[in-house]
Amino acid sequence: MSDQPLAFAHATVLAARTSGAVPVVATYFDEATFTATHVVHDPRTLRAAIIDPVLDFDQPSGRTSHASADQVIAHVEAHGLTVDWLLETHAHADHLSAAPYLKERLGGQIVIGAEIRTVQSVFGTVFNEGLAFARDGSQFDLLMEDGHAFKLGEIEAIALHVPGHTPACLAFVIGDAVFVGDTLFMPDYGTARADFPGGDARTLYRSIRRLMALPDETRVFLCHDYKATGRDQFVWETTIGAERTANVHVHEGIGEDEFVAMREARDATLGMPRLILPSIQVNMRAGHLPEPDSNGVRYLRLPVNLL
Ligand SMILES: [Fe+2]
Repeated sequence: MSDQPLAFAHATVLAARTSGAVPVVATYFDEATFTATHVVHDPRTLRAAIIDPVLDFDQPSGRTSHASADQVIAHVEAHGLTVDWLLETHAHADHLSAAPYLKERLGGQIVIGAEIRTVQSVFGTVFNEGLAFARDGSQFDLLMEDGHAFKLGEIEAIALHVPGHTPACLAFVIGDAVFVGDTLFMPDYGTARADFPGGDARTLYRSIRRLMALPDETRVFLCHDYKATGRDQFVWETTIGAERTANVHVHEGIGEDEFVAMREARDATLGMPRLILPSIQVNMRAGHLPEPDSNGVRYLRLPVNLL
């Protein structure tokens, strides 16, 4: 079966490795949400992308703050980078996105997968949003479908649609690196849950197998790490070869049915993420808070006994 986007991604990785035109990646890890924000740049042109930026949120007080995002801004300024892209691998359920704050300070286009429209439709219903909440993805600057090619400076890049954890998940191949969002975790930790609305373990397995067809030497950058048992450091970088041969949930040789049975049994034991309700309401709006109420205050909703 032909898979042109994957073939293009494969060629992109090999071309970057052959030519040495590889992106530089710096990672800022937020221990409050276990999220890795990556700042990726082309060393020749200093054009940059920021992937999955975190907005700090104190749930008890309802306060947002910018210490995490300000670290990213300091990095961009210290290296003289120009930000072209603010890339979201998906609508996160565990942290709020700082993309609008970074866009205001640094510029760049906010990008997410085109299937965000499905996520907006599902959660628009969950939160009983009115007609003012658009479900067409228009809050974002650009929606990418599978195979959407773009550039980071002079480095080739392409989005791969990798649904399963959520319907809108994208992996971004940039030069010899792939930013996989929540499709894969470190080989010793496994994979992300697939039980959110629109998630599906079988679909996730197929997306992962597609990623594993990239060259073994492809650098893999994760969105999260939770320190597997026996490991005392957070790690967010591995390779396709390491994932393919050693991922505890989905290494080569583990079949689709076996994975689905494991994933569904495990997901049945998991509670909801601590910040899922505020995160989804904000992230389905591209990181913007809901419009103010009649008193000028912005509110987040909390459905009771629904999820
Ligand atoms: Fe996620």
